[in-house]
Amino acid sequence: MVVIIKLLSLCIIVTCLQVIHCSVTYDHKSLIINGQRKILISGSIHYPRSNPEMWGDLMIKAKTGGLDVIDTYVFWNVHEPSPGIYDFSGRYDIVRFVKTAARHGLYVNLRMGPYVCAEWNYGGFPVWLKYVPGISFRTDNEPFKAAMQGFIRKIVEMMKAEKLYEPQGGPIILSQIENEYGFKRKSFGPAEKAYINWAAKMAVELNTGVPWSMSKEETAPDPVINTCNGVYCDYFTPNKPYKPTMWSEAWTGWFTELGLPIDQRPVRDLAFAVARFVQKGGSFFNYYMYHGGTNFGRTGGGPFISTSYDYDAPIDEYGLIREPKYGHLTELHRAIKLCEPALFSSDAKYISLGKMQNAYVYEGNGYCAAFLSNFETNIAVRVMFNNRHYKLPPWSISILPDCKNVVFNTAEVVTQTSRMQMVPSGSSLSSWKSYHEDVSMLTNGGQSLTAVGLLEQISITRDATDYLWYSTSIEINPWERILHGGRRPTLTIHSKGHGVHVFVNGKRYGSAYGTRQDTKFTFSAPVDLQGGTNKIVLLSMSAGLPNIGPQFELRDTGILGHVLLDGLDHGAVDLSMSTWTYKVGLNGETMNLHSPNGISSVEWSRVSLVNGVRQPLKWYKAYFDAPQGNEPLALDMKSMVRGQVWVNGQSIGRYWTINANGTCGVCRYTGAFRPGKCYAGCGEPTQRWYHVPRSWLKPTRNLLVVFEEVGGNVLSINLVKRTHTLICASTFEHHPMIDNFQTESTGEMTMLHDTKVHLRCGLGQSISAIKFASFGTPFGGCGSFQHGTCHAPNSAELIEKTCLGKESCEVMASNSYFATDPCPNVLKRLLVEAVCSG
Ligand code: GAL
Repeated sequence: MVVIIKLLSLCIIVTCLQVIHCSVTYDHKSLIINGQRKILISGSIHYPRSNPEMWGDLMIKAKTGGLDVIDTYVFWNVHEPSPGIYDFSGRYDIVRFVKTAARHGLYVNLRMGPYVCAEWNYGGFPVWLKYVPGISFRTDNEPFKAAMQGFIRKIVEMMKAEKLYEPQGGPIILSQIENEYGFKRKSFGPAEKAYINWAAKMAVELNTGVPWSMSKEETAPDPVINTCNGVYCDYFTPNKPYKPTMWSEAWTGWFTELGLPIDQRPVRDLAFAVARFVQKGGSFFNYYMYHGGTNFGRTGGGPFISTSYDYDAPIDEYGLIREPKYGHLTELHRAIKLCEPALFSSDAKYISLGKMQNAYVYEGNGYCAAFLSNFETNIAVRVMFNNRHYKLPPWSISILPDCKNVVFNTAEVVTQTSRMQMVPSGSSLSSWKSYHEDVSMLTNGGQSLTAVGLLEQISITRDATDYLWYSTSIEINPWERILHGGRRPTLTIHSKGHGVHVFVNGKRYGSAYGTRQDTKFTFSAPVDLQGGTNKIVLLSMSAGLPNIGPQFELRDTGILGHVLLDGLDHGAVDLSMSTWTYKVGLNGETMNLHSPNGISSVEWSRVSLVNGVRQPLKWYKAYFDAPQGNEPLALDMKSMVRGQVWVNGQSIGRYWTINANGTCGVCRYTGAFRPGKCYAGCGEPTQRWYHVPRSWLKPTRNLLVVFEEVGGNVLSINLVKRTHTLICASTFEHHPMIDNFQTESTGEMTMLHDTKVHLRCGLGQSISAIKFASFGTPFGGCGSFQHGTCHAPNSAELIEKTCLGKESCEVMASNSYFATDPCPNVLKRLLVEAVCSG
């Protein structure tokens, strides 16, 4: 077969024999792989946000969910922690990740950045880059471009050496250079254009044989494809008529910011967004994220991004399927794939079906597919298409792969909903011991530095740790009146970020924090002073370096404003220009207390309810055995405040149990989604559970180490398992809308609708109880279903017979199954809520 490829790629005419691979190229319809146009369904899974032991299972779930492509950023700062020193081990083993995708029949889109944003520390940049002389990030700056080119070339060469590009027989079909540059273009100054042109040329000249893309960059120069990122992308057209319409980030939910509730995006709206994109000719879409995972260690950026990067994605943080999101999207993918031949047979024909209703029809070469949409947010609407009637629920699209039968409607969810729960793991934490991180350590030797004035934090720590101690002293005359009008002197600290714990003469006076949007903050509190020397010790913390915006080289952290002591006899004293002593990191960090090797460097004390709780700056250790079973594990840290946690020397991440402040109202799937529209978990800790990957455990005596900054109760930390406990399913009886149309319909109304409910428990579980079952007119949400006026009394009994004791079962919503019609001429549905255990 000879394929003529009109495009801007290395090959103009390529002979494709089965064994020889063509370059990947594109036209206005789609990417073209081995001479074939393709609708490509993609999902982001970031390799360092899970671990190699999880990758295979994630890929299987992605493939089963109907994905063709796995998308990942490449995270420069984990691979090149110091200039020229590379790390591709463990969960940074990108080659293994790409090969795992290939093994499961998935293509890969490698988004190399190297700026990735991604709620990742410093947007993916290594911190050493900030200290390269003369550097200016993401602009036409020689030191920056040299470093960027060095890294991109390193990755491309690595992929080529492993034969991972599609023309070499590998899975990589696409790459991205830069990220969302257009979004902030103006802030990069006049050199922005030269930089973007340079980046495109540099990438293309690496001759990977697959196209390059730039997201949110409308000036992306040929042959680079500009792509859309967003909640909806149906408004998007590429910058040249010969480029395909690609959506590189379809946001499945949103990231979580500590102190705020959890964002959830209803799957009906997400499916609607995808169908809107495809009906207008979009041929590539990528779910950001398909599996969000975990910000292990200190990889989260922001600052104040939660350690969980769950993202309300179809596969949850722990690698478990989230229903109904996963199942509903899987059905959507099937429906879209049924339309594929028609989508490539012609361009779309637009037909208006009403004020807020329309159809996009693709017809040619004997194929016909149609998408019928209703943009009304409150009402279902009947439309007439090809002489047939169709009822369109609000804010939905029906997909008709043959222009007749509806195989899918974005608002009709027929897959099961499952409720995940944290349940006791059966394994207890024992032998708690503690070690106190001494506030007076600055006098105890160790590496310290003394300077006049306040110094920037990251220039001293180089981000090797979150912590930098700032310490100074002030002499108070013995005859100083310490109380003025009954008031104590006030200590005020201005910081550029991200948090501080304040100690005066060894006593803790509180903490203050910035936020993700504004890292600056002020601490102010009355303090007790004594005649003579008073020691002021400030533990300044970073909480993930900012990941967004221009001029990364100018970002400062730490106590850089004034430090003032007010209310003394002669007014305020500005300590900013005093002599300050600095110490990088905690003593416990220097001694590697978190690791099995460092654990015996100190004398640990036994923890009891009396001495063990609510003390600041404490290290704790305990041991536990791996719980039975395969369920994912987590630490319940509700009783703690803020710090870091490790298991067997591996960092689980930062924890902070700050409460989520926000409004959690009713979440309607209709109407435009935006982050903050559907909040959950208000008034609860933003993040209470911390994922402990099973693969980090040994059968017995696993070492848990916690560093608590503020004071918590370690004796209440628990190891829990994550499992499905409640599953719910619903479906309508056959031809759900037929009654509505009987009187008016001239044409035949068809709906290929699954009229069975499918119940499936998690791995190793079975259905142990039917908590609710009703065939009739029940209503309500999973966990709170209620009987309606019509109900078949034998519903529960029949379903128990079919399902109890089974891992999965199916029940038909029909009069014949229930041997009765509880309310003739009424459209009936079946709602079931079952308990899984095992
Ligand atoms: C996008 C960006 C992603 C991620 C996302 C929010 O704009 O490209 O990397 O940061 O926002 O989760």
